[in-house]
Amino acid sequence: MTAFVGTDIDRAASLLASGGLVAFATETVYGLGANAYDAGAVARIFSAKERPEFDPLIVHLGDLRWLPDVVASVPPLAERLIDAFWPGPLTLVLPKTNRIPDLVTAGLPTVGVRMPAHPLSLELLRRANVPVAAPSANLFGQVSPTTARHVAEQLGERIDYILDGGPCLVGVESTILDVSGDLPTLLRPGGLAVELIEAEIGAIRVPSPLSNENEPQLSPGRLMRHYATRTPLVIADREQPPPGNQSVGLLTLVAEAGDERYTAVEVLSARGDLTEAATQLFAAMRRLDARGLDLIVARPVSESGLGRAINDRLRRAARSSSLSRSDGRGLG
Ligand code: TXA
Ligand code: MG
Repeated sequence: MTAFVGTDIDRAASLLASGGLVAFATETVYGLGANAYDAGAVARIFSAKERPEFDPLIVHLGDLRWLPDVVASVPPLAERLIDAFWPGPLTLVLPKTNRIPDLVTAGLPTVGVRMPAHPLSLELLRRANVPVAAPSANLFGQVSPTTARHVAEQLGERIDYILDGGPCLVGVESTILDVSGDLPTLLRPGGLAVELIEAEIGAIRVPSPLSNENEPQLSPGRLMRHYATRTPLVIADREQPPPGNQSVGLLTLVAEAGDERYTAVEVLSARGDLTEAATQLFAAMRRLDARGLDLIVARPVSESGLGRAINDRLRRAARSSSLSRSDGRGLG
């Protein structure tokens, strides 16, 4: 049995309200949603995705008036961020109320919460009239979906409905900011640039992207297998030639001289625009993965604007594939 894909918001909303699992478009990526107050429904998310229960979910709001039911307090700084950036690709981590089941937050005293900007997701949430817990609608560890078809391919048989809102405009997941303590801390770079957040509230703590492994685990899920393509993926700059005698694909922001040495090339933005590149990233990774290549080489982008989120996803994809490989093949 395959889930129905369509644009019937009322059907999707009543499924959510009655404990169903509904995938839906947001501006970032497609989410796999269940009523956040219903632990039984939330449990189905974990089993459909094969997601470990120690990885907490983000709760999605359709109305600001729902916020006090979900979070216990909103510091002034969080209020400013909400005014400035909601609805939009910013998840705030705040102390949770006891209406939110522990399963949603993996037992943490905090909850990640956001209001998505896609008009279809907002309308869905309002009609369902409950906060919706939703991770990205992919099998655990794999590339996040940015079209309804991506969702159907991985989860079609396991869920009740897919609300098709077209391709996602942002293309990478929300930025996650922990505002539950004294110093706002970036937990995941994402669809809202750090520069815009800092312009609003001043400097935030941005853990170095390269020292992830040595840091205390700030956010569960940060260090786990993620964004993995089946094809091994390595990060290399353009000075490094592709390894010989292999079919190698290239994932690059812009085309460069010498790219014809690769079997397949995905250019993320011909005009070198990082926002456009983020929109294209996951679909390009999927297309390369479908080519049956020996290796995917990804070129890093500049660590600014949405480039931070792009590099983060590439590093995780590279780390995931080196963990699963024993031959040590690759460019270092
Ligand atoms: O754009 C998005 O954020 C998408 C769409 C569907 O909204 N959702 C998404 O969810 O990316 P997911 O499950 O793929 O990522 C959730 C991550 C967790 O892995 C964890 O790192 C972090 O959010 N998180 C959630 N609650 C947290 C909490 N209480 N404390 C720290 N980190 C938390
Ligand atoms: Mg995810």
